[in-house]
Amino acid sequence: MTVYLDNAATSFPKPPRLYEQLGRLLEEFGGCPGRGSYAMAQRSGAVVDEVRRLLADLLHVPEPQRIVLTMNATDALNMAIKGVVRPGDHVVTTVLEHNSVARPLNRLEHRGLIQVSRVAVPAEGIVDPGDIRKALTSRTSLVAVLHASNVTGALQPIAQIGPIVREYGALFLVDAAQTAGAAPIDVEAAAIDLLAFPGHKALLGPPGTGGLYIGPRARLSPWREGGTGVFSELPLQPEEFPYAFEAGSPNTLGLAGLRESLQFILQFGVAWIRAHELSLTRQLLEGCRADGRLTVYGPSRLEDRIAVVSMAVQGCPASEVAQFLDQERGIAVRAGLHCAPGAHRALGTFPDGTVRISPGYFTSADQIDRCVDALREAAERLPKRSLRVCEMVG
Ligand SMILES: Cc1ncc(COP(=O)(O)O)c(C=O)c1O
Repeated sequence: MTVYLDNAATSFPKPPRLYEQLGRLLEEFGGCPGRGSYAMAQRSGAVVDEVRRLLADLLHVPEPQRIVLTMNATDALNMAIKGVVRPGDHVVTTVLEHNSVARPLNRLEHRGLIQVSRVAVPAEGIVDPGDIRKALTSRTSLVAVLHASNVTGALQPIAQIGPIVREYGALFLVDAAQTAGAAPIDVEAAAIDLLAFPGHKALLGPPGTGGLYIGPRARLSPWREGGTGVFSELPLQPEEFPYAFEAGSPNTLGLAGLRESLQFILQFGVAWIRAHELSLTRQLLEGCRADGRLTVYGPSRLEDRIAVVSMAVQGCPASEVAQFLDQERGIAVRAGLHCAPGAHRALGTFPDGTVRISPGYFTSADQIDRCVDALREAAERLPKRSLRVCEMVG
């Protein structure tokens, strides 16, 4: 049985009830939500409403209809960035961002439409809110920051950044791809205007699910226009939430699965889940730090982390370590740049990247021990090479 330690990519396994429910749901929830007044469609519609309500509970969102359901975090981030930014705008972001933020911004910048400031990070990979303040100008319309790095697991001080962004009248977009379900999030307390999150990572839901919270200060143009099942007489996309941003038939099956996983998470509580995952992270870090051939990147304090650890085995390319773990020990981890080349440049691990190990809710202490043993074995057995010179920026 594979030891799955790539929960930062997508969580596996899912809560047992989700598997039980999916087949039944396909049989019983045949109707399209919001597209008919008959009972089957209403029943599917109720599932979608409940997902919104459960998400609102989890993220401290006062108006559930302001949560727009999307395909994944990338979809939500594109919706936010392209919906907000106008020609001539200035955007502040960080060097740590995933390509789902970096690439949309890069393209707008390359087309000469916007200016982008990318804030650097100190050695431990945590953005200094003072540096965000320094980058803000009167033309800044958007500040986009991830809540935790998908490379090092470093939590970012979003609760300190949010009020600064508000002082300048810009909108604050938080990429919670790694934290929704794994760390507490309160959109009001952190002055977040836009929160993008996937359903398939720490929310433990099926692939093809995600969402975007759009706060009352944010005025977005729709990114996808089309049928909403209501207000069909209007020539333009309705302005009412969530219809303004939810065109087309929803992923009812995925959302029904997400409902199960959200109930599961709310039952245990995010604080409990975080404590459990941090204890696995501590075990992993201690195991690696005890061996001089293994280097761990990211924050030194456990409380500044989520359960995502980037490491290197001395003299061994990350891809060969991951291959060894997979083929020799049945352990699934992810090597390379993790779609965040800027974060690796900042770490000094570009272009080879790192070995990323991300335990999840269902990981056991025994699996972490097996992973640490396998890393030591890789250090012992793999041929040593001189790795390409690392490029370090900022
Ligand atoms: C920080 C971060 N942002 C965005 C994404 C994109 O998420 P999704 O795969 O749900 O589109 C990821 C995925 O790994 C991520 O780690």
